[in-house]
Amino acid sequence: MAEKKKEEKVDNEEKEVQKQITIDDLPGVGEATAEKLRESGYEDMMTLAVASPKDLAQVSGIAEGIASKIIGAARKAADVGNFETGEEIMERRRGVTKLTTSSKALNDLLGGGIETQAISEFYGEFGSGKTQIMHQLAVDATMPVEKGGFGSHVLMIDTENTFRPERIVQMSKAKGLDPEEVLKSIHVARAYNSHHQILLGEKAAELTKEFPIRLLIVDSLTAHFRSEYMGRGTLSERQQLLNRHMHDLLKFGTIFNAAVAVTNQVTARPDVFFGDPTAPIGGNIVGHTATFRVYLRKSKAGKRIARLVDSPYLPEGEAVIQVSEDGISDIEAA
Ligand code: GTP
Ligand code: MG
Repeated sequence: MAEKKKEEKVDNEEKEVQKQITIDDLPGVGEATAEKLRESGYEDMMTLAVASPKDLAQVSGIAEGIASKIIGAARKAADVGNFETGEEIMERRRGVTKLTTSSKALNDLLGGGIETQAISEFYGEFGSGKTQIMHQLAVDATMPVEKGGFGSHVLMIDTENTFRPERIVQMSKAKGLDPEEVLKSIHVARAYNSHHQILLGEKAAELTKEFPIRLLIVDSLTAHFRSEYMGRGTLSERQQLLNRHMHDLLKFGTIFNAAVAVTNQVTARPDVFFGDPTAPIGGNIVGHTATFRVYLRKSKAGKRIARLVDSPYLPEGEAVIQVSEDGISDIEAA
């Protein structure tokens, strides 16, 4: 019995999060109205957002004036109807800048560094250097623009408890930066489960009121999702939540002209017998939303091979980087 209660509680918590994207939250939609809408097939925000007031009124029995208000609210919530002209997009794209990775080879591979208004995904097996690169990017973002940084603060969502201030100190010293100043500019939020992680992604914007955040890191993007939705027959729910989370991240990057860097693990592909039998977690959802995907492989003596995969306009290629106490660098510099 107690077990059952617990299950129900988890279920309700899940619904809590889901609720943010359901119609119940719309102003003017009470329980009875929500029920009517659902019964008439208007189950999600997008369906409502693109409905006509007349149709909605007719099928659900709601007054047309109210239907119109509900549709208006749904459009806002679903983020449709906000058109930008080509000129506006061009203007926004002009603001795109790049953040150094501290390796010239890796910067070159990425066309100059990781870009703002885009998600850069670093994936690879354990120990391939993903977390090290995230620490390095955090340090680099605090550097002045002349040095390839953003002269900004950083928000890091840490899902595996792998943020180490000691590494930030080492990397800062190696760059001749004041470690204390760097640490003060890095805001770390520990995410305890996937719902918490999603919430932090949504709340990221609030921190920009206080601090100039130009880099948002999620390390790891997929670990919680992977462990929580394993073998539960809930893959589509996982993908839906992951999709929403990634769009929140991308939105943050676009609105605040910030770079977004995420890490991802690999999983064995039972269908591949030749070549590399590993693939990043999250499948197409992650693949389509991340603008740059970098596959990291271990090599000898602290060396790592970074491969650019599926870039929209850069050629595929590889770069060799060095991971040392000083952080990320080119091999010849180490
Ligand atoms: P998971 O999160 O487990 O999937 O791995 P990851 O890809 O995040 O690995 P991470 O970035 O934590 O890399 C760990 C590796 O970086 C270690 O095995 C070391 O090889 C290297 N490393 C980490 N810290 C240091 C350091 O202070 N000095 C040196 N020389 N290497 C380090
Ligand atoms: Mg890691």
